[in-house]
Amino acid sequence: MRKLLLITLILVSSVVLGQEYPYQNSELSIEERVDNLLSIMTLEEKVGQLVQVNFSKVLTGPPADDSDAFIRENIKKGKIGSVLNLVSAEQTYEAQKLVQEHTRLKIPLLMGLDVIHGHQTMFPVPIGLTASWDTGAMMLSAQVAAREAASQGVHWTFSPMVDISRDARWGRIMESGGEDPYLSSQVAAALVKGYQGDLSEVTTIAACAKHFAGYGFAEGGRDYNTTEISLNTLHNVVLPPFKAAVEAGVATIMNGYNDMNGRPVTANSYLQQDVLKDQWGFDGFVVSDWNSIGELMIHGFAEDKKHASSIAMNAGNDMDMMTYGYFNHLEELVKEGQVSEARLDESVRRVLRVKFRLGLFEDPYAYSNKKREKQELGSKENLAATKEVAKKTFVLLKNDSKLLPIKKELKNVALIGPLADHKDVALGNWRAKAITNSAVSIKEGLSGLLPKSTELRYAEGCALSTGNRGFLDQFEMNESDTTGFNEAIELAKNSELVVLALGEDCYQTGEGRSKVSIQIPEVQIELLEELVKVNSNVAVVLMGGRPLDITRIEALAPTILMTWLGGSEAGNAIAEVLIGEYNPSGKLPVSFPRSVGQEPLYYNRKSTGRPTGPDNKVNWSRYIDSPHDALYPFGFGLSYSDFEYADLELSSDKMKRGEEIEVKVNLVNTGSYDGEEVVQLYIRDHVSSMTRHVKELKGFQKVMVKAGETKGIVFKLSEKDLEFFSANQKWEAEPGKFSVMVGGNSRDLQELAFTLED
Ligand code: NOJ
Repeated sequence: MRKLLLITLILVSSVVLGQEYPYQNSELSIEERVDNLLSIMTLEEKVGQLVQVNFSKVLTGPPADDSDAFIRENIKKGKIGSVLNLVSAEQTYEAQKLVQEHTRLKIPLLMGLDVIHGHQTMFPVPIGLTASWDTGAMMLSAQVAAREAASQGVHWTFSPMVDISRDARWGRIMESGGEDPYLSSQVAAALVKGYQGDLSEVTTIAACAKHFAGYGFAEGGRDYNTTEISLNTLHNVVLPPFKAAVEAGVATIMNGYNDMNGRPVTANSYLQQDVLKDQWGFDGFVVSDWNSIGELMIHGFAEDKKHASSIAMNAGNDMDMMTYGYFNHLEELVKEGQVSEARLDESVRRVLRVKFRLGLFEDPYAYSNKKREKQELGSKENLAATKEVAKKTFVLLKNDSKLLPIKKELKNVALIGPLADHKDVALGNWRAKAITNSAVSIKEGLSGLLPKSTELRYAEGCALSTGNRGFLDQFEMNESDTTGFNEAIELAKNSELVVLALGEDCYQTGEGRSKVSIQIPEVQIELLEELVKVNSNVAVVLMGGRPLDITRIEALAPTILMTWLGGSEAGNAIAEVLIGEYNPSGKLPVSFPRSVGQEPLYYNRKSTGRPTGPDNKVNWSRYIDSPHDALYPFGFGLSYSDFEYADLELSSDKMKRGEEIEVKVNLVNTGSYDGEEVVQLYIRDHVSSMTRHVKELKGFQKVMVKAGETKGIVFKLSEKDLEFFSANQKWEAEPGKFSVMVGGNSRDLQELAFTLED
């Protein structure tokens, strides 16, 4: 009776407001509006909401057999509910018009784009952003990216990528939050909140946590390769960042290409249905990766597209990106009963929910705004934001004899290297609407900041690559052309300091860019060898999107600053760090190996039964030709200040369930610069029902400490921090001994112990 009354009320108020249907009434709740819409949609209209196609000349995956005209026609018929890669206020407006002017229910088109680390104003690539250990900076980068993208009609970004990445060979490690589940979870939450806000503003966009799940575990680091992941690793390592994204309210999740334990993840109902939707209560929608439904056939898991679509749908995949499987077969599958109508409705409900949350039903054109587009793209404010963020991401790996910061008294500095005056590499791969060659180079940055009394001299030394470089260009890195060496050597010989900018091209990381060698090109190392022969004061500035094998560089250069791919203002940000205007504060989110042979390499490994043994001559877990630990461990990063940790203390050596203990430590800045330090807290669960990691990050604080100052740092540790996915297949903390370790990186830690008691 009450329900009937409510429906009558809704209908009456809609008529009063001049609306044809209740779903158009913004006074109603989203669920009421979705209910109404679902009740009047035809099967064809429902299927249309689950179809996403590429509506642009820009392809971010293999092309389908379609055309612009075909897509246009089908948008008009309501058979396509979402497009990707269409961007510009004008074009998105025109596309939206097709729906508004031709379809019966005018359900707005949802427009997606890979806005991965900035839109036109580029921020550091995600692995770099993570190195800031600064969630405020991460959030800011997403807010700016969202503002720019939204002004061009984009409603939805396929970011953040939260795949735990332990293998430097994998090109997509660049897009990730690194190797650690706790840190990646912080990144995931910060980026989701930054992109989305509460989703109601036209300056915010829906986020998408991807690739669900395990894509980063590609065997051999080869992109798209098979993954084998135990339930233990899946829950304790792979899934936490996704859970954090869901808890932060992420609107969508993308599955992936990988076969996991014999089942492609696009077809995995345990992941998509049981864990994501049922256990975690995710109420947004799951989109496939580009043609990942079609690839079920290539995996040998489906006979044809119809079969693939049925499998994907029944496994909880809601929207089909670029397979045209749902487009061609879903109606039939529902009519035949191979996919239930309830399952179809569930997916449609999820998609509609996101469209309502974005406010698209109120004004489908709101995002496509030429005025905002003009104001936002590459604005001064946005560039200032990326510079602020970028300088927090650089990691000082080595600074022997304190070559940096550059001393004011120097009469000259030689800036050398293929990346010293490069204006493109720092923009990174997955660069959305970045303008080619628009990054500030190091040369440009330094020349504006060095004191007038310091002459800046420049030589390229060697070229970076030959041929056209670009997203789809096959180009060769320069491995052997030494033509520029002599000029560079002369310059180095007669200069007081050499700043040498070396590294990878940005197109050597990203999708489909896996490598078996993670060293920088040989010719660049030779250049370094020649320069140190004539000048021992060489500070190497490195660029790249992955942990590199820099063992040879480390042996030659007294100073190394890792700057990742730092975005549009990279050169200015690097210059500020070089001259000491900003004291480096980044820490590695990934282990830097001694050689590629150690990969996959990560700090939070298991003990093994034979972890080490100075007395063991032969049979212990090691390499006979290399130490097994990292050259630079996870969490490592120096500062121009020197930090010491003292007086580690626990408020109790016992924790009762439901209670907290405090972990206190004094952080002393013994150096002569004010500086920031990332204080890291790790735990070890000594005996458990499943083997645990030797160390697990459970907290961090980035704090500013003045020169000479001591700061008391306090962490609170609760039972929740001790939980893991146990042998009982649930998250719980098991009683017993735990270690607490605190320090400035995952290797150099002070340690105390306590017990968890029932
Ligand atoms: C394929 C990639 O795996 C995914 O990350 C991306 O979002 C889509 N293509 C869309 O471009």
